[in-house]
Amino acid sequence: MKLLLFVSLIFWSFFSAHAEEVYEIKGPLGLPDLETPDDNPQTPEKVALGRKLYFDTRLSADDTISCATCHDPTKGFADGEPVSTGIKGQKGGRNAPSVLNAAYYRIQFWDGRAPSLEEQAKGPIVNPIEMGMPSHQAVVEKLRGIRGYQEAFQKVFGKEGITIDNIAIAIASFERTILAGNSPFDRYFFKGDKDAMSQSAIRGIEVFKEKGKCTLCHPFTPDKALFTDNGFHNIGVGMDKPNPDLGRYSVVEGAGKTEGLRGAFKTPTLRNVTLTAPYMHDGSQKTLEEAVDFYDKGGHPNPYLDPQIKPLNLTGQEKSDLVEFMKSLTCDTLPSLTGVRD
Ligand code: HEC
Ligand code: HEC
Repeated sequence: MKLLLFVSLIFWSFFSAHAEEVYEIKGPLGLPDLETPDDNPQTPEKVALGRKLYFDTRLSADDTISCATCHDPTKGFADGEPVSTGIKGQKGGRNAPSVLNAAYYRIQFWDGRAPSLEEQAKGPIVNPIEMGMPSHQAVVEKLRGIRGYQEAFQKVFGKEGITIDNIAIAIASFERTILAGNSPFDRYFFKGDKDAMSQSAIRGIEVFKEKGKCTLCHPFTPDKALFTDNGFHNIGVGMDKPNPDLGRYSVVEGAGKTEGLRGAFKTPTLRNVTLTAPYMHDGSQKTLEEAVDFYDKGGHPNPYLDPQIKPLNLTGQEKSDLVEFMKSLTCDTLPSLTGVRD
C-alpha cells in the first residue's frame, strides 16, 4: 500500500504505520514530490535509524565526527567554513554543501562522483580526513558492538542486520526527510501572496531571469523551483590558482571526458543559500554580494569558462535586488533537529 505523506517541511511526526508500508514523500511548497528508489522504500523506523546514525560520532575512528559535524542543522546543514575539518583537525579541499534538499539532486558531490544518496553516505565514513574509519567492515563491526544498533537494524532490515549498505540506506532515508521549501519566494510565486517578498526581492526575480541570466543554470518553472540544472559548469571559481581543482573532469572517464569539464562543478541549488556562507566549491566567496560581483565581472577568465558566463554590467540597484531575491529563498521555519542516542 502506498501512503502519501504530506510534509509541509521536514517531517518528523509520522503517522503510525507498519514497517513494510512504503512512503512517498510530498514535496514542500515549491518543490516537487520526491521519488524514493524502488530498492529503498521509506519507513518511519528506517528514517529514525538513519537520523541516529547521522548524528552519531561513533561512526568516526576517534568518536569525534558525525555527518552533522559538517552538515549541522544549526548552520543550514552545512558547517559555515570555507572547507571542512574532519578527524584530528584535518582540513579537506572543498566546501561542505548543505544536505537540505540534497535528495533532489540527480547526482551527489560537487563533482558528481556519487550517483545516489546511498552511495554518497558510504564515502565520508572511510575518508581518511573526514571520519577516518579504516574500512567499511570496521564501522560495521563497531556498530555490531552496540546493542541499540543491533536491535534497531534487525527491526528495519531483518536477518541482514548491520551491513555497510544498510547503514547507507538508513542515512539516505533520513536525508530524504530533510526538505525545505515554503520560502517567501514560494509563497509569492506559487501561492500569489504579493506581500511575501519585498519590492527589491521582486525586482530581483526579473534580474535573475533576464539581465543576470542566472536561470540558465539555476532554473525555476511554474511547477517547481529547484534552482539547479543538475549540470556541471566552469564559472571560473578557483581557476586563478596554480593547480586548480578540476572538478568534474577528474571524475568522468571515456568519451564523455571533454575539455570543457575542466574546472566544472555541479550547479548548487540556491534554496536556503543565506544559511550556508561561504560559497562555491572552495568557499572562496564570503557573501552573496561577493558572489554577485563575481558574476557581474563574468567569472574568472580561463580557457574552459562556460560560454554562458559573461560580464553582466549590472547596476548597484540590480545587484542588491539580486541579493534580496536570493535571501527570499530561505525557508523561515526550519526545525531544529538533534541527535537521539541510545
Ligand atoms: C569532515 C566533514 C564532513 C563529514 C564528516 C561529512 N561530510 Fe558530507 N560533505 C562534506 C564535503 C566537504 C562535501 C563536498 C565534497 C565534494 O563534493 O567533493 C560533502 C558532500 C556531501 C553530500 C553531497 C551534497 C551535494 O550537494 O552534492 C552529501 C549528501 C553529504 N555530504 C552527506 C554526508 C553524510 C550522510 C555524512 C555522514 C555519513 C557526511 N556527509 C559526512 C563534508 C563532510
Ligand atoms: C553557466 C551556469 C551558471 C550561471 C549562468 C549562473 N550560475 Fe551560479 N553557479 C553555477 C555553478 C556551476 C556554481 C558552483 C561553481 C563552483 O563552485 O565552482 C554556482 C554557484 C552559485 C552560488 C554559490 C552557491 C553555494 O551554495 O555555494 C551562487 C550564490 C550563485 N551561483 C548565484 C548565481 C547568480 C545570482 C547567477 C546570475 C547572476 C548565477 N549564479 C548564474 C552555475 C551558474
